[in-house]
Amino acid sequence: MNWKDRIYAGTLRQANIGQNVTLFGWVDTIRDHGQLLFMHIRDLSGVVQLVFDPVSNATLHAQASSLRPEYCLSITGRVVEREGTAKNTQLPTGAIEIHVSSLTVFSKSLTPPFMISEKTQIDSHSENFNVDEDLRLKYRYLDLRRPSLQNNIIKRHKILQAIRFHLNEAGFIDVETPMLTKSTPEGARDYLVPSRHHENTFYALPQSPQMFKQLLMVSGLDKYYQIVKCFRDEDLRPNRQPEFTQLDLEASFINEAYIYQLLEPLVQKAFAVAGKHIELGFPYMPYDEAMERYGNDHPDIRFDMTLVNLTSVLDGVNFKVFQSIIDAGGSIKAINVKGKAEDMSKNMLQEEFAKKIVPNLGAKGMAWMKATNGSLDSSITQFFTETQIQSIKTLMNVEDGDVLLFIADNNKALVNDVLGRLRLIVAEKFGFIDKSKICPVWVTEFPMFEEKDGRLHAIHHPFTQPDDGFLSATTIQDYTTLKSRAYDLVINGEEVGGGSIRIHDASVQHKVFEVLGLSEADIKQKFGFFVEALSYGTPPHGGLALGVDRLVSIILDAPSIREVIAFPKNRVAFCPLTQAPSPVDPAQLNELHIAIIEKESNE
Ligand code: AMO
Ligand code: AMP
Repeated sequence: MNWKDRIYAGTLRQANIGQNVTLFGWVDTIRDHGQLLFMHIRDLSGVVQLVFDPVSNATLHAQASSLRPEYCLSITGRVVEREGTAKNTQLPTGAIEIHVSSLTVFSKSLTPPFMISEKTQIDSHSENFNVDEDLRLKYRYLDLRRPSLQNNIIKRHKILQAIRFHLNEAGFIDVETPMLTKSTPEGARDYLVPSRHHENTFYALPQSPQMFKQLLMVSGLDKYYQIVKCFRDEDLRPNRQPEFTQLDLEASFINEAYIYQLLEPLVQKAFAVAGKHIELGFPYMPYDEAMERYGNDHPDIRFDMTLVNLTSVLDGVNFKVFQSIIDAGGSIKAINVKGKAEDMSKNMLQEEFAKKIVPNLGAKGMAWMKATNGSLDSSITQFFTETQIQSIKTLMNVEDGDVLLFIADNNKALVNDVLGRLRLIVAEKFGFIDKSKICPVWVTEFPMFEEKDGRLHAIHHPFTQPDDGFLSATTIQDYTTLKSRAYDLVINGEEVGGGSIRIHDASVQHKVFEVLGLSEADIKQKFGFFVEALSYGTPPHGGLALGVDRLVSIILDAPSIREVIAFPKNRVAFCPLTQAPSPVDPAQLNELHIAIIEKESNE
């Protein structure tokens, strides 16, 4: 194998004209012109055109005629300039071609289940790759031959390299933490691994290295990072994977400002890998403001159309639906769809929005008003006083041609959730989002706890430092009004990372577990080692984890995180390639003392 002489196909240019070159790669496309046989050979760097001429070498031409797409081969030939009109300006190597003098087939290929060549995309700039995703994942090794997917994987590598470089420069130490471990509470279910040596016991795969990185701070390692797999058995969503990668980091003797100042240039460098520039000095938004104006804690600030609270100005309204909601302590909020009165017909508003979209989002109804000739046109305007109409106009900056969409409900959280999602749907529908924008924002001042079914849960995780008021709090009401020192990094409406300044006092940590409803025995069994470790001179510390898959997919404008992961699971957490998860041999289960209990039928 003359690997030393190898040249990459996609690197050849006019400067190489006249050279004899050796290429290794795969047959991409074949065009038989009767006399001449043209072919693209593809490797990691791109494609270049090969020419086989029967007149100059009949044997070689015959040999080349038997080649099929995806055969793996080596060729040697001379780089020749293409004639004027034969030049392909769409292709980096389009000014030249190779007149082949010898070829070796390393291995043949079956006909692939889908076309791998992206020549049509190169030629027409179309994105016409419409193959079923499960088929792509079943043949992921072929899918990964496609240049666009290879580009994602290579860019991911470069982004991680830039991140590592940044953290190494800042004095961070890359430390590996265990995969076979004990449950860390990050809010999802654990993947369990049975132990053969310790009968009837299980390891948990880490949902994150949270406790270990804090222990490294207790150890005095000062600055830790790791690019690490995390495992969460959680409800499936498009931007979640059961195993995913975090850039996890932690530092001692620092505060929030340190984390922001470390992360902003890191994120800037990651985007720069794709040639995208973001300004440092990301804005901050308190959690309460995000919920109030955007309806969620991951605000998309690329566009306005924020939620306006009209509850107080509408108090006293003569419209029963609204007044009963106000009386019940609910809220009425609205968004202003600027200048879309003509595009949003009454039929669309009623049949599409009020009857379909909004009920699907979970709300009971939607009201709307159109601004025309200085007044607000709607079937419900008659119930509003002139002062109320004026207040709506002022608060919502109403101009002729605008459409106001109202959601009201006894449940304030539901109003935020539904209107927040409606805001995104409307923005997508009318192209309000400038897709070239990159808008990061730090969401800060999260509440420490939330109440669900009469119990308190940690909003970030139980290691987050609560407000000073924590030690004097006693009631559920006290606890749910406490803030914490948690922060999230949100980019273009997506939560890319989250972290906090941690508790470094064992007694505070113990009390948080108590408040979360853990018994003394539970605390000891699940977190005893951790609380004990905090008792040995723990430095103040904090950190954060970035979701690498999400970050990379945003940087590369990938339609899903699966496009930036070499071997992802599909939408239902299954691997069509290896067929995992799959049943195991009963003998293996026996060794582990595990018995399968058949699910009871519903009959
Ligand atoms: P958190 O749970 O917020 O924090 O996770 C950090 C980031 O990881 C990404 N992420 C995911 N990406 C893909 N698939 C998933 N299933 C998934 N779950 C989370 C998100 C998220 O922002 N230990 C803390 C960090 C800390 O406090 O330092 C933690 O894991 O982008
Ligand atoms: P109804 O009395 O249910 O026919 O509703 C009268 C008007 O109020 C209609 O325009 C409804 O769309 C609107 N409406 C009803 N419920 C809500 C709600 N929960 N939020 C906003 N508007 C509503």
